[in-house]
Amino acid sequence: MPDQPPSVALHERALAVFPAGSTRSALWYPPYPTYAAHGLGSRITDVDGREYLDLANNLGVLIHGHAFAPIVQAVQEQAALGSCFALPTESEIALAELLTDRVAGFEKIRFINTGSEAVALAIKAARAYTGRRKIVKLEGVYHGSYDYAEISNYSTPDNWGNEPHAVATVPATPEGVLSSVLITQANDISMLKRILASDSDIAAVIVDPVPARCGLTPLQPSYLDALRTLTREAGVLLIFDEVIALRFGYGGAQGRFGGQPDLTALGKIIGGGYPVGAVAGRADVMEATASAVSSSGTFTANPITMTAGLAGMSALDEAAYDALEALGARMRLACTEIIDKKRASMQVSGTGSMFSIYFHRRDVHDYRSYFKSPAENAATTRFHRIMLQEGVLMAPTATCFFSTAVTRPDEEHFLQAFATAVADFTS
Ligand SMILES: Cc1ncc(COP(=O)(O)O)c(C=O)c1O
Repeated sequence: MPDQPPSVALHERALAVFPAGSTRSALWYPPYPTYAAHGLGSRITDVDGREYLDLANNLGVLIHGHAFAPIVQAVQEQAALGSCFALPTESEIALAELLTDRVAGFEKIRFINTGSEAVALAIKAARAYTGRRKIVKLEGVYHGSYDYAEISNYSTPDNWGNEPHAVATVPATPEGVLSSVLITQANDISMLKRILASDSDIAAVIVDPVPARCGLTPLQPSYLDALRTLTREAGVLLIFDEVIALRFGYGGAQGRFGGQPDLTALGKIIGGGYPVGAVAGRADVMEATASAVSSSGTFTANPITMTAGLAGMSALDEAAYDALEALGARMRLACTEIIDKKRASMQVSGTGSMFSIYFHRRDVHDYRSYFKSPAENAATTRFHRIMLQEGVLMAPTATCFFSTAVTRPDEEHFLQAFATAVADFTS
C-alpha cells in the first residue's frame, strides 16, 4: 500500500481521541482537513509539505499573517521573563491604553480570554447595570458559545416561523435560557420597536455591526441610528460585538459606521495571535459592574497575550488599516469582474479586509436572505476544495480575511486560483 499523506494518518489518530475526529469543528471539512505544520507571513505549510496562501488567518485573528517578527520578539522576551503571574503586570495597562486611546467609546476596558467570554461578560454587565434579565439578538448572528448568545444561531426555514423567535442551538437548552432571549431580524426597525415595547425586562440588545451571516456588510445606517435611539429610550444597553468588526476601522466599526454602543465585546486581533477577549465601553457602566461581574479568569491579561497584542496592534496603525481596506476593495472588484466575465451565478460580498463568496445573486441583508440552501452549501464546500487545490486556504465558509502580509504576487496567485475555481462552476 502506498504511504498515506501525513494528514490522513493524523486524521485517523484524531478520530481515536476526538468525537467526530475534531476538537475545533469550524475548521473541519470533508473528507478530512489538512493539518498545519508552520506558517510565515502570508504563507502556511501543511504536514503534507504543501504551501498555501493563507487567507483564513485563523478566522481573522492573524491580521499580520504568521510569525510576525515584532510579535515573535515580544513573546520570546516575555516568555523568558515568565508567562503568567498571580500579580498584574504593566503589559495589561499598555494594551488597555492603546485600545482606549483609539476608540472614542472605549472609556474603560477589561480583559478576558476569548470572544465568547467577552460577549458573556458584556451581557452579564448589562444585566447587573440595568437590573433586567433578557437580551435581544439578531437571528442567525454568531456571537460565540455563551448559552444566551448562541440562541437562534442556526435557525432553519423548518423552525424559524413567520416572526423570528428563540430556537435552541444545543439540544435540551433550558427553557429559562430560551425565554430570556428575544430574536429580531437585522435591518428591520419596526420589528425592533415592537420587541423593545413588548417587554420591560430587557437589559441589552447585542448586534454585530457587520454581521457575517447577514451579508458581511454593515447594518444599514438608519438601523444603526434606530438601535441607538430606541435602546436609549427604553433604558436598554446597546452592545456591539466587534470581536471581528474591530478590523474594519482604526476607531473600530463604531468609529467608521456609527452606533455609539454602551459596551463592546472584543477578541481576535487584539491578542496578537494568542487567546484573548475584552469588554470596553462607558466608564459608568464598567465601574458600576466591576465587582459584581467577574473577569478574573486564571489566564486573564496574561503577559504573553498582552505583549503580543500590544506588538500587533501597535503595528496596525492608520496606514495599515488604509492598506488593508484598499486590498480588500481591489480583490472584491477583481473577483466580481471574473464572476461577471464568466457569467457565474455567484457574488462577492464583504467589507474592508474581508469578503465571502455566495453561490447565488440574491440580495443579502439579513439571516433569512443569507441562509444557504443545500446546493449552496455543497457549492461552498466544492469551491473551498478547489481553492485549496490551487494553493489558497480560505475559511471553510469561502470567506477571506486579508492580512498585512499579503504581497502583490500573492494577489496575483489568489486571482488566478479564483478564476480557475469560478471556471469550474461555469464549465
Ligand atoms: C462575531 C464573533 N463574536 C464572537 C466570537 C467568539 O469568539 P471566540 O471564538 O474567541 O470565543 C466570534 C468567533 O468567531 C465571532 O466571530
